[in-house]
Formats: sequence, C-alpha cells, structure tokens
Amino acid sequence: MAEASFTMDKPRRVITIHLPHRETVAAALLVLLLGAACFCGMISPLIFPPAQEEEPPETPAIPNSQLANANLNQRVEDLLKQMTLAEKIGQLTQYSAGTLTGPGSNMPNLEKLVAQGEIGSLFNVVGARETNYYQRIAVEKSRLHIPLLFGYDVIHGETTIFPVPLALASSWDPDLVQATARCAAEESTNDGVRWVFSPMVDIARDARWGRITEGAGEDTFLGSAFASAYVHGYQGPDLARSNAVAACVKHFAAYGAPNGGREYNTVDMSELTLRQVYLPPYKAAIDAGAATVMSAFNPLNGVPATADPFTLTKILRGEWNFGGFVVSDYGAVAELIEHGVATTKAIAAKKAISAGVDMDMMSDLYRTRLAGLVKDEEMPETVIDEAARRVLRVKFALGLFDHPYADESKPPSAVSPGKRALARRAAEESIVLLKNGAKPIPFSAGPLLPLRRDTPTIALIGPLADSPVDMLGSWSARGDPKDAVTLRAALQARCDAAKTKLIYTQGTDILTESESGFRAAVAAARQADVIVLALGESAPRMTGESSSVTRLDLPGNQEELLELIQSVGKPVVLVLFDGRPLAIKWAAENVPAIVEAWYPGIEAGNAVAEVLFGDVNPSGKLTATFPRAVGQEPLFYNQLPTGRPADDIDLTHPPTGQDKYFSRYIDETNAPLYVFGHGLSYTTFTYSQLRLSHEAISIDALTNPPGSHLFAPARKILVNVTVKNTGPVAGTEVAQLYIRNIGGSVEEPVRELRGFQRVTLKPGESRVLTFSLSFRELAYFNLDMERVVEPTQYDVWVGGSSDATLGTQFEVTEK
Ligand code: BGC
Repeated sequence: MAEASFTMDKPRRVITIHLPHRETVAAALLVLLLGAACFCGMISPLIFPPAQEEEPPETPAIPNSQLANANLNQRVEDLLKQMTLAEKIGQLTQYSAGTLTGPGSNMPNLEKLVAQGEIGSLFNVVGARETNYYQRIAVEKSRLHIPLLFGYDVIHGETTIFPVPLALASSWDPDLVQATARCAAEESTNDGVRWVFSPMVDIARDARWGRITEGAGEDTFLGSAFASAYVHGYQGPDLARSNAVAACVKHFAAYGAPNGGREYNTVDMSELTLRQVYLPPYKAAIDAGAATVMSAFNPLNGVPATADPFTLTKILRGEWNFGGFVVSDYGAVAELIEHGVATTKAIAAKKAISAGVDMDMMSDLYRTRLAGLVKDEEMPETVIDEAARRVLRVKFALGLFDHPYADESKPPSAVSPGKRALARRAAEESIVLLKNGAKPIPFSAGPLLPLRRDTPTIALIGPLADSPVDMLGSWSARGDPKDAVTLRAALQARCDAAKTKLIYTQGTDILTESESGFRAAVAAARQADVIVLALGESAPRMTGESSSVTRLDLPGNQEELLELIQSVGKPVVLVLFDGRPLAIKWAAENVPAIVEAWYPGIEAGNAVAEVLFGDVNPSGKLTATFPRAVGQEPLFYNQLPTGRPADDIDLTHPPTGQDKYFSRYIDETNAPLYVFGHGLSYTTFTYSQLRLSHEAISIDALTNPPGSHLFAPARKILVNVTVKNTGPVAGTEVAQLYIRNIGGSVEEPVRELRGFQRVTLKPGESRVLTFSLSFRELAYFNLDMERVVEPTQYDVWVGGSSDATLGTQFEVTEK
C-alpha cells in the first residue's frame, strides 16, 4: 500500500488516503480531483505542509477542568455547610508572615488567628519547616482543620534565579520559559509554597514604568504565548501533584499602562484598546488553566481595579468562565478609601468583595468588616459563601486537604548543576546584540564582536561588572547573590585560561556618582586592547515595583564615564545590565558594540562572556522598543495609524515649511533607537519566497465551525517563507510575521505580530517556514466589542524584526 497524506482546512484534520499500487486509474482520478480542488482554492496547495491540529475554541467552556470537577465541588459544599461566618471570612483573609513589602506595619497575632480559623492564606513565609509551623496550627488546632495556602513572589525562579521576565521574553522561546517555571515550581513546593504570584502579564509600552522588567514587554501576541507557558510550567498537568503550584495572573487589569509611567497611577483607555491590547494575555493565562488572579492597584477608566465588577465579574467570570479565586494586591482593598470610592473601611470591603475580589491581601478589612456588613444586612452572606467556595475549590484542587505539609526531611532547594545549565541556556537566549559595528581606526576592519580569543589585554570597567546582587534582578525570592556569577568572575576564569590580562576597575558607583574612580578607569582603558564597559541600573533600587523614572539615560554619572572611556580611542563594548529599555542614543551613535544583557540571573557572567567571545551566537530579540529620547514614551511598534503619517518626511531636522503639519516631533525623529523585534547575530539571515496559500479567504470560511463535507473551503491562510543563513557561522533566527488590517470598521495598528518561530541554521542552510493565519490571528474587536473579521485587506510581512520589508497581501471577502 502506498500512502499519501494531505490536509484540508475544513474539516481541519489530516486525511490519509491509501492507494493500492495496481489501482492506477483510481489514483489518477484522485490526483485529478485533488488538482481541481487545489485550483479552486478549496485546499491548500501541496507545497504547504499539513496544517496543524484543530485549534482549541477561542474560550474554553471550562478553562481549568479540575476546578469544575463534581466530586471536588461536592467536598467544597460539604465543608461550607459546616463553616461559621467567621470561618468563611477566614478563608478570604491573607497576611504576610515575613517581610512586609508594602505600607502598614500593624500585624495581628497570626498564630492566634490561624488557630481560630480566621486566616486562609499566608505569604512571605518559605521553607518546609517554616510553613509547616503555621500549617500545623491550622490543621491541628483550628476547628475544621482547613489547611493554609502559602503564597510567594516567585517571579523568575525561587532559589535558582533565571533572567528577569523581560529578558526571558527576549528569547521568544515559550518552551524555555515553561521549563524555568517548572523548575521554580519544584523548588517552591519543596520549600512549602503551593502558590506563586506569577505570571505578571501586564502589557508595558512605557519604559519609564519600573515594572516593565517583570513582564514580557509591549506585545499582546507574544505576551499571550508567554502567559500560557508560565501557567503550564507552574501548574503542570495536575494541580494536585505535590510539585505543582497554583499560578496567579496579575495585575488584573491593565496595570501596565499608568499615566506618565508613574507607579500606581491612573489608567484610562478605550474599551477597544483594553480588549484588543491589554486583556488577551490575562485571558491566555486563564485559558491555560490559571487557578488564581490578582487584582491591580490602579483605577481603570474611573473605577479602581479592585472594585471593578466590569473586569472582575463581567469579563473574568462571565466571558472567560474563570473558576478560581481573585486575591487583591497588597492592601488594595483599603486603598479604595484613598481612591475616593469608599468613605469607610466597611464600604471598601463591601465594594471589593461584591466586585469579585475573593481574598483580601493585607488590608485586614475582610476579617474586621465583612461580618458586620452581613449582620447589618448590608450584604447577603451568599456573597461570602461564593468567595469562600472559590478559595476552597483551589485548596482542594491542590490536594492540600490530603497533603497539607511540606516534606521536612528534604533539604531546602539549592542550585544544582542541572538547574544551572537551564539558567545558563535561559541567559544565553535572553541576551540581545543591539549593535556590532567596526572597531575604531587604526584597529583591524570588521565587526568588533566576537572578541578574539588571543586579545592580549582586556579592561573590564563599570559598576555592574562585579555586582552579584544586581545580576539577580528585582524579585529574586530565595535567590542568593552568592550563587550569581558576575562578568568579572567569568572573564577572569577565561582570561586565566587564555593567558589574557584582565584589568578590572569599577569606574563609578551608580548611586553615589563619585568621580573618584574615573582616573583609574582611564588608566585601565589606555593599557587595554579592548574595553568592556558594564553599565546600567541598580536592580534593587531602580527596577521593579515603585521604580518609575522620568529619565531613561544611563543613571548617575555613567554617561560621563562612557564618553570618557570612549574618548581613549580603544574598541569599546558596552554591556548593559538593566531592567528596562534605556535611551542610549549617544552610545548607539558612538560606541561600536552594544550588548543588552538585562539582569541575566545566576549564570549572568558566563552567558555574557560566551556571547562576547562567540561561543554563543546571540539570538535574543527586543520585546520592548528602545527610545531615542524619554519624550517619545510611551513608545511601541504597534501604534494606530495617524491621518498625517510622517513616513516620507525627513525628520532629522526641525520643520522648515509644510513638513511641519505631520504627526512628528520637531526636535527628534519619530523612529525608535532600536525597534521591537530587533536583535543581531554573528551571522546574517535573508528572507525570500514569501507565498500565501490563498490570495483571498471568505468570512464564512474563517468563522464557521468545521463541517464534514469533503471540499469545504480553507479555514486559514498558510504563509510560507524561506529563511537562509547567509553568514559564516551557525545561528538562530527568530522569524517574525506581522500583519496590518486595512478597511475595517475600526482602526487597526500599522503592524501587529501574529506569528514567530525560532529556527537554527548552519552557514548556507535554508529552511521553509510555515505560519498560519486563522480567525484567531486575524480577528479584532469591533465597536460592539465582538471579535470579528470583516471584508478587509491584510498586508503581511515576514522578517527578523518589526521593520521587516518582505511583504505580500490577501483579502478577506464577504463570500
Ligand atoms: C505587588 C504584587 C506582589 C504583592 C505581594 C505587591 O506590592 O504589586 O505584584 O505580588 O505585592 O508581595
């Protein structure tokens, strides 16, 4: 039997046809039939590989089936019936049992409240012994023996610290991120934690906002892919497994868009933008089964997110079928008073729980006010029942009632060689080569990087060259700076082996701005053949929560140091360790090579050294746009069009006449310094032969559920492109597909990412990549807030950044 297989888009399943050798007539007939079908555009031409599996529905009926399990819910109901009002409220109450990471310091007696069943969850307590201490009180002393749920800010690793999330996103590798989240889950559970306050999936389009470091950057499509990967990594296939943690998607909703980039500030945006840009990553996490959500600090369109029934109930539960529970952010219930929507603490508690916040983190208002509200008939007890039900559901799903304790016989989590290898890979994939220009005259021609192994003397200068704590980035959980390899340590080891002389000097201190180290820095630079300058931000002081800035240049006097060292005339490599895109215009214009390392985690120095010497060919691509000037912020690639685009105007000088009346700045070009998706390699890639399976597709084909008839129309456009490694060494490219939709009922961005693939190619090797554009990728919200496709035109580009030029078009037709 010969076997041939082909794919039809409707119904979308692979049909295998068996052809007996001798039945040539039948085979010929079949070929004719297939040809005709192809000709009519009914099936994808055979040059396209089989389409992928049937995609899951846009909104699964039950995103997390464990939470909907009938037996589990019966256990919840049985327990609820036995609970007093105070015990139910206890399940909705959470305190920090360790470091306080927000305002307020009046802590109640935790042991006493746990014994009374008046606390449902603790956070910031970690370690098997430490968590078991409280758990024993809950399980052995409280009347109904309900276990506590221990939460913790495990954001990019628990003990083994990986690159910060913005760096991880630069890998464009969700599988890698899933592996880091799995490692974090195993370490957390070993240390008694069954709930992590991650992933943070807030879209961040403004580099002034310090928390841009905690998320995947500015793009919705990419952010959604990472949101899902984190949840799968944390929760694994079954929450009840002892090494699974419940994920907590945060900060719901739109926390990443504060006015002026100022932390905790107001967010105001159209519902269209909210749904189109900001909500999809939260939804992707929910669809992946995330068991919990954290409400945000910010007001959204005039309503504090922690008292917003529109997002917390209508969308989250009504539209997305979320079955887990919502915890407030730190003290956010009490902050409703500051927001001016509650005149008393009782009203704040009532507004939050009625809107859909099930658990109160640190405000102490649910515990102290909810019972009074019920007694005074201000609120029905059923509201509390429902919130308690949701919390208990997650506790049952985690198997806490059957296995409440962590295993104290196991040692605390520690970094192992295997985990170090994963951290190294993550750091290698996260590093972005921003620029690789020629060395200054009289040095030999060609790009500065990778560095020659026989370089006689290297000067390593800068406050980030030997600072382990900074390598971990913000939110480093149980991470120990002693586990972090700095660039100095890594380079020293290499230089010792290669008999290269390494001269290290700090040059300056970011915080004190003392110039006392400048003289030694210049002396070191003069002696060196190559200078590596390690500059950037102080991770704990300048990045993460409460770290908004009004300037994006190198902080302190590092810019002066940079210009001084560059003036020595030797080849300079600038290595940036930071948590946000910085405005490094002078460096981009004057320094030959720039490596964006972010905060790479415990393997920082090793990964950067490998990139500098070419052992690793960099493959990271930016997921947050680099501005030329802070005044361009918020700056992102997928802007909506303007009626007066300045595309054909020379923006390098102030306007002189009619070139004024365009959407432009008069003192700076519109273009970013480095665009979204940018990242260089030590090799080069070309893109060619961009082909579509169809030049048109109907709305009906895109939207109707698969039928059963044989030659139904294709339900997606397949996009083929050839990528070739045209340079001298093997490399990994992140191929990116962008679309633009023109002619619809609402404005659509000038470009939007709708596909990406990492592809590793040897020198000279090429590969045909296939992307698919179905309803999922093409749909957008109309003015009635429905996801639709309309009869419109789509431009498509594929390339190595959001500046991709290889393009084509197709149409969506009415019929
Ligand atoms: C942050 C959250 C964090 C929480 C608990 C808050 O200040 O906004 O992201 O999970 O504290 O530490």
